[in-house]
Amino acid sequence: MLGLNLAIEAQRAGHAVTGVSGRRKVALDGATMMQADLLDAAARARMWEAAAPEWVVHCAALADLDACEKNPVLAQALNADLPGTLAAEARASGARFLHISTDAVFDGERGDYTEEDAPNPLSRYAETKLAGEGTVAAADPAAMVARVNLFGWSLSGQRSLGEFFVNGLREGRALKGFTDVFFCPLLVNDLAGLLFEMFEKDLHGLYHVLSRDSMSKYAFGVRIARLFGYDPAVIAPISLKDAGLATRRSPLLTLKTDKLAAALGHPLPSIDEGLARFHALYEDGYPARLKAAGK
Ligand SMILES: NC(=O)c1ccc[n+]([C@@H]2O[C@H](COP(=O)([O-])OP(=O)(O)OC[C@H]3O[C@@H](n4cnc5c(N)ncnc54)[C@H](OP(=O)(O)O)[C@@H]3O)[C@@H](O)[C@H]2O)c1
Repeated sequence: MLGLNLAIEAQRAGHAVTGVSGRRKVALDGATMMQADLLDAAARARMWEAAAPEWVVHCAALADLDACEKNPVLAQALNADLPGTLAAEARASGARFLHISTDAVFDGERGDYTEEDAPNPLSRYAETKLAGEGTVAAADPAAMVARVNLFGWSLSGQRSLGEFFVNGLREGRALKGFTDVFFCPLLVNDLAGLLFEMFEKDLHGLYHVLSRDSMSKYAFGVRIARLFGYDPAVIAPISLKDAGLATRRSPLLTLKTDKLAAALGHPLPSIDEGLARFHALYEDGYPARLKAAGK
């Protein structure tokens, strides 16, 4: 989800783009696209040689919480070890490196976390992503680490919570939303723009890159229903306690974005601003254009 949207936004911003995908072939007009297994050193060597980048944003991960619990060795290799290896290789090649981490490094008991607060990961996914922040900082202290939570349109059409609500509303499914899980999701297109600004300002270290405000996942679904012209009443409010999820979730993933706002000299977008653009992109046929990249 992030990689392809980032490539599109980078092109729009006038950058030359090389996109690296894993098992799936992706085609994007005007961009150089390649496939590489990032765990394969020879494939990485070919990638660095072909791309010779100035800026690298590392988006690949095992981002499925249950898959990380089932396959801890792969989660460790992809989410924890690989980011450090790539940061070291980027540094050796003279490229600036930005690694994507997650809001889920916090346990979500208190909320309003700053970059100074101690993380406490609850799942294998969160644990390995936190370890990845450490391997990046060790390999290149000048690298940037962005803790994110994102929504938007994706290649599969099913990757984000925003798409979950839009698809379910369109298909008339009975939907549920947590009233006691709070988050600060940022539209992936807006996230891309902020990451470019971070490079332009030559920032270093850890930043929270999320919407400046928060809401419950239920409220997020209700906002989407209203924006897309559906009856919000089809979304049932439920509690995390009653969901019976296999992997533990953090309930109050509200993160402060003041550090990045100060560094960039402007506040980060609000969730409602992101949702308005999410809807405008839909009206403009953006989801179909994204899907075409996978054909
Ligand atoms: N989505 C969210 O709400 C969210 C929230 C917090 C943080 N994040 C972080 O944001 C980043 C992007 O997330 P996303 O939602 O865009 O994830 P995604 O859609 O699952 O994309 C992850 C990509 O990584 C690729 N990949 C996995 N193993 C690879 C390998 N060995 N070699 C090459 N590519 C490989 C996958 O490609 P193949 O499957 O084709 O191999 C996939 O395209 C991740 O670091 C994630 O932890 C996401």
